[in-house]
Amino acid sequence: MRTRVLGGRPRQERRLVPIIPLLAVLGAPAAMAEGARPGAQLFTQRCATCHSVGEGDRIGPDLHGVLERRDEAWVTRFITSPGALIDSGDPVANELLSKFNGVRMPDQSLTDSERASLYAFFRDCTQKGKGGCKPSPAEKMGTDATPEEIARGRRLFEGTESLKNGGAACIGCHDVRGVGVAGGGTLGPNLTFSFARLGEKGMRPALAKVEGPMMGALYAKAPLDEEEQYALKAYFAEASRDGSRPRADRDFFYLGVVGVAAALGFIGVVFASPSSRGKS
Ligand code: HEC
Ligand code: HEC
Repeated sequence: MRTRVLGGRPRQERRLVPIIPLLAVLGAPAAMAEGARPGAQLFTQRCATCHSVGEGDRIGPDLHGVLERRDEAWVTRFITSPGALIDSGDPVANELLSKFNGVRMPDQSLTDSERASLYAFFRDCTQKGKGGCKPSPAEKMGTDATPEEIARGRRLFEGTESLKNGGAACIGCHDVRGVGVAGGGTLGPNLTFSFARLGEKGMRPALAKVEGPMMGALYAKAPLDEEEQYALKAYFAEASRDGSRPRADRDFFYLGVVGVAAALGFIGVVFASPSSRGKS
């Protein structure tokens, strides 16, 4: 862990350094068009319970190609208040209503920029061809996970379920409070509070890109797939929620306090002596 300061960098880490840039290039995942990203997240949070994009009808219609089959102004009017449009006698809206068993889509209050980002997401998906696109599960907030997703994250972490691309189980190098029989490895930082520390914003890229000297070299060729990223994020979010500190962190914390106190004491002695001499 941090004790590596005493002995310099571990050997295998130094050996891995030159191949990292190459692996990073080879392993770079295809990125979603920039403008579509917030739209994908919004879609997952607000629309995906009832709609898919390219995976068929759910409670509401499949929205793949919706901006090609309908005029954008109509879509905007519909989303803002489906009920008003239906009641106004709009034929398309009424046809949809009867096709979807009389279930009325609730009014969606969206700002102009939220709507624009949703449309960017729809267009990006349509461009990807017939299959449309499933918004990345990694876009979903770690704190919105179901118990099954959290449990899967734990199994992936512990290695009782293998990672799809053959990556090493995290437990070999990381501990999380309550994990495994004898706890996890200590080569990497304790991840019990990683979600609290990194937040949703930091955790998502951490699991998508898996950077850092050791992790980058290990997972560049065996990246975590999006569902694995999500399950692990959900598991870390859950681990962060419990307030008690894990042992390893607490020990380190006390060592830190003692260390700082010792250092301050030392500085105090060094600086105190000449000045007190000066006064006398
Ligand atoms: C509770 C379920 C539900 C949610 C949530 C929901 N919708 Fe709908 N949506 C429907 C239903 C049902 C229809 C079919 C029309 C009707 O019956 O009102 C529909 C129709 C649509 C249509 C028209 C599709 C077409 O083929 O013309 C669009 C566009 C649409 N929804 C967009 C959205 C967007 C964007 C969101 C999220 C911001 C969203 N919906 C959230 C249920 C939902
Ligand atoms: C071979 C050891 C090793 C394995 C296996 C490993 N890690 Fe790491 N991990 C590290 C090290 C060491 C670091 C510190 C940064 C670095 O050197 O890459 C780290 C850093 C991290 C961080 C950043 C922590 C922070 O607070 O910034 C996250 C998140 C993380 N690892 C998650 C995982 C996950 C998820 C897995 C399993 C899929 C995993 N690690 C597997 C060694 C490992």
